[in-house]
Amino acid sequence: MIERQLNISYAEYATIDEMEPGDAELCRAAIAALDGSYAPYSHFNVGAAVRLTDGTVVKGANQENAAYPSGICAERTAMFAASAQYPDQEMCSIAVVGAQEGTICPEPATPCGACRQVMAQYQTRAGAPMSVILIGGSRIWKFEKVDDVLPFIFDTI
Ligand code: THU
Repeated sequence: MIERQLNISYAEYATIDEMEPGDAELCRAAIAALDGSYAPYSHFNVGAAVRLTDGTVVKGANQENAAYPSGICAERTAMFAASAQYPDQEMCSIAVVGAQEGTICPEPATPCGACRQVMAQYQTRAGAPMSVILIGGSRIWKFEKVDDVLPFIFDTI
């Protein structure tokens, strides 16, 4: 038996202003995307913004529905919109933020498993790392690739 270990490193920032300008812009877009959140059931708002290889930023926010499973997370809203509207572009970065009652949650928003899997697929399609930026009011985390938030990615391609 061999005991193996997995080591994941990521950057932590105290504020958006500490980040490089492109990442800071993406974070601001994710925060602006909160305006599009429709969350009458959970009252938990999530905003996301995806950066494409040509620099375009596509926003998304969670959309809930009376038939609960019909709703969708902010991250997938943003990624599916990006893929549908810009099929010739790849995604190189995604930023996510959660908020309640108009206030950004202090701890970074951590995406659900389904959203991580979708990120993984677009990263595979891109053939290059997609960075994942998780925004909180007290700290912001940046992971350089989806593998760092979803180790042992499932893939059939
Ligand atoms: N939500 C997201 O938008 N992203 C996630 O990664 C986790 C959860 C949404 C779904 C639902 O509208 C609300 O947050 C509460 O679960």
